Amino acid sequence: MRTPLIAGNWKMFKTAAEAAAFAEEFKTLYKDTDVKTAICAPFVHLAQLKAAFEGTGIGVGAQNAHYEDEGAYTGEISVMMLEDMGIDYCVIGHSERRQYFAETDETVNKKLKRLFAGPIIPILCVGENLDQREKEEQYAVVKEQLVGGLADISAADAAKLVIAYEPVWAIGTGKTATPEQAEDMCEYIRNTMEELYNEEVADAVIIQYGGSVKPANATDIMNMSNIDGALVGGASLKANDFIEIIDF
Ligand code: 13P
Repeated sequence: MRTPLIAGNWKMFKTAAEAAAFAEEFKTLYKDTDVKTAICAPFVHLAQLKAAFEGTGIGVGAQNAHYEDEGAYTGEISVMMLEDMGIDYCVIGHSERRQYFAETDETVNKKLKRLFAGPIIPILCVGENLDQREKEEQYAVVKEQLVGGLADISAADAAKLVIAYEPVWAIGTGKTATPEQAEDMCEYIRNTMEELYNEEVADAVIIQYGGSVKPANATDIMNMSNIDGALVGGASLKANDFIEIIDF
């Protein structure tokens, strides 16, 4: 049985005071359930959120990390530094990082390998853009991202992975993939994991859908058999909305 993971991705939002206010409100609303949850926040808020969520079961994630432990990489934060803070998850290969910050399947692969050397669980983002979907290239695009991102990663590690299917055309646009479209690709991802590894890995891997997930559409999405959770952008910024999604 896979335990669903519903994670918030705050992207580049919130001041320290806003993050603290969210944490206080979210803690009072949150009830420990069968669904795991986490907030993936800007680096500057991670220590504060770790302290605020201690003992609650609410996880804390980063949105990126560098694969080298240390070095002359101005402006970067390493996986080692996140491990030192006890961070639970790290988003890797988000489409915004691929689009604006030159993230490639090769850098994704290096980051995943480094993360698997420690306890932080990677959330690997894959997904096609609108042009690719219109040309019906979505399966080929997602497969290439999986093959490249997971190159030389063992089955034992791959089984621990969280994969977030985020069609770029559905991110921040209010245009959600239909539950059927999301399920179709999540099933394709699971089948691809079986092809790349084996049935056990395919059964174990957590596959999230992301892209305009809101309280109003969370139930239909979460009820799909191959969808084990959600990666929530905008709707994770408000404690009330995010709680409603977790309680789908
Ligand atoms: P939205 O939920 O705002 O569409 O963002 C989705 C996303 O990119 C989560 O990583």
